[in-house]
Amino acid sequence: MTDYYFRRERAADSVAVERLFDIGFGTERHRRGVYRLRGRGGQERAVSQVAVAGSTVVASLRFWPITLAGYQRVLLLGPLSVASAWRHRGLGAALVQSSLELVDAGGYQAVVVSGEPNFYARFGFTPGTPLGLTLPMPIEPERVMIRTSLPLPPLPLGAARRATHRPSRRQPSARGPKIKARAR
Ligand SMILES: CC(C)(COP(=O)(O)OP(=O)(O)OC[C@H]1O[C@@H](n2cnc3c(N)ncnc32)[C@H](O)[C@@H]1OP(=O)(O)O)[C@@H](O)C(=O)NCCC(=O)NCCS
Repeated sequence: MTDYYFRRERAADSVAVERLFDIGFGTERHRRGVYRLRGRGGQERAVSQVAVAGSTVVASLRFWPITLAGYQRVLLLGPLSVASAWRHRGLGAALVQSSLELVDAGGYQAVVVSGEPNFYARFGFTPGTPLGLTLPMPIEPERVMIRTSLPLPPLPLGAARRATHRPSRRQPSARGPKIKARAR
C-alpha cells in the first residue's frame, strides 16, 4: 500500500501532466472534438488537481470554464488520467471525488463531462442528453453528463459552449490544500 496526496496543479507540473495525458489519450488528443470546449485561456486552476506519490505526479484532472444557459460558473471536467502503474487502486475515483469537493466548496453551479456513464454516475452525474444538453462536437449521446447543485431548469438545457472569459486564478492558499489519501 502506498500513500499519495492530492494538491492543485502548479505551472511546474505541466510537463508531467501533459505526459500523463499523452499516455492516457495519445499525442493526437488535441484533435478530439472535446478540445473545442477547452478555451485557450487555460484550465480552471482553483479546482484542477494532481495526485502526487513521493515527488512524482501520478494522476491529473483538469476542469475548464464553459457556459450553459441558466447557470453561472459552469465547468467542463477532463481530461482525467492516471499513470498506468497506479490504475485500478481507486486513485482515479478518489481524485474526481476530491476535486468535486473543491468544485462544490467553490460555488460552481454545474459540471459537464463527456465520459463513461458507469464511471461518472457514482459522483452524481446524470445523463444530459435527455435533458436537452448538447456539446459542440460529435459524441455518443450517452456520454454527455451533467452534475449540478441547483434544481434543473425547464427543459431543454441547451448547448454548452466554450467560455470566453478568463478562468479564475483565485486560489485559497499559495500552495493549495494537501489532501491525504491512501491507495487501495
Ligand atoms: C479511466 C482511468 C482514469 C481510471 O483510473 P483508475 O485509477 O484506474 O480508476 P479507479 O481505480 O478509481 O476505478 C474506478 C472505477 O472506474 C472503473 N474504470 C476504470 N477504468 C475505466 C474506464 N476506462 N472506463 C470506465 N470505467 C473505468 C473501474 O472499473 C472502477 O470501477 P469499480 O469501482 O466499480 O470497480 C484510468 O484508467 C486512465 O487514466 N485511463 C486513460 C485515460 C482515460 O481513459 N480517461 C478517461 C476517463 S473517462
